[in-house]
Amino acid sequence: MNSLINTLFAVVKFSLYLLILFGIIGVLIIFVVIPKWVRTEEVLVPNITGKTYYEAVRILDNEGLRPAKEIREASSDAPKGEIVAQDPVANFRIKSYQPVTITVSIGAELAPVPSVIGKSKDAAFETLTTAGFRRNRVAEVHSEAYLQDTVIAQTPPEGGGQRRGSSINLLVSLGPTPQSMQLPNFQGQTATDALVALEAAGLNVETEYSSHPKIPEGAIIAHKPADGVIVKTGDLILLEISGQESPENIGRLLPFEHSVSEEGTLSHHVKIVIIDDSGQRVVIDQRYAPGELIDLERKGVRVFGKTRVIVYENGEKLPETVYK
Ligand SMILES: *[C@@H]1O[C@H](CO)[C@@H](O)[C@H](O)[C@H]1NC(C)=O
Repeated sequence: MNSLINTLFAVVKFSLYLLILFGIIGVLIIFVVIPKWVRTEEVLVPNITGKTYYEAVRILDNEGLRPAKEIREASSDAPKGEIVAQDPVANFRIKSYQPVTITVSIGAELAPVPSVIGKSKDAAFETLTTAGFRRNRVAEVHSEAYLQDTVIAQTPPEGGGQRRGSSINLLVSLGPTPQSMQLPNFQGQTATDALVALEAAGLNVETEYSSHPKIPEGAIIAHKPADGVIVKTGDLILLEISGQESPENIGRLLPFEHSVSEEGTLSHHVKIVIIDDSGQRVVIDQRYAPGELIDLERKGVRVFGKTRVIVYENGEKLPETVYK
């Protein structure tokens, strides 16, 4: 019995010694070996900002470091492929197993897209080029609201950041859809009435004169195309007028110009009303790009006698002009 107790006691004592020994080894590992191992693995992060990606990888490798798997891409002024940022920063101490995250430039700067809606096609191209964009596809459609050759829509739209040099698609107006109409018979009517009616219908007019035994001076002898023919907006009608050329018959071209307000980037609605001896009529009623010039003489607007020209911009009446 006694010897059994002695044996047990010896076993317990041996176990205790063993425990103390392991304890000492453990303490040595924790406080001496690990810190020593950890210290030797610490590295000063080199400055790789401003280097190319491949240079950076080589420099990191020389220090026993490696780049993080994930590379962040940034748009900036820096050339494509240049390191614009690193984490940790230069001269930071890290362990060699810690990766260095690097941010590489994609070499493109983001820029806001300007609005070119309502601008003329040429002005829109210029605005886009100045802002650092290219024009891409230009589609054309007929539009009642937008003057011919002005921009109706754009993609991407105004605002937001797009990569400089990327392209913008434009939708451009072909002007109003041509209207078809059947030409009435103007024979015997005064040239004044015929001219005003044809102009109001959006038709272009040319005149010639000859004497006629029956048709009074200043009245229509004939016209080409003849009555009953289907014509469309913009077509040319030749009027043969009885007698001599005289401003009383065919009126005069009006040397009137109007510069559309330069305010804003959107188009302005312009309406021009003429009041003369042949009555009151609207000669312009559509949208114009800011700053655009409307030239009634070039449009071939004819007037008779004393003439008043009244311009409305976005519904607001501007000072009127009077011609004797
Ligand atoms: C790293 O190098 C770049 C380019 O040579 C320099 O502009 C930058 O100041 C440097 N950064 C540090 C922390 O030294």
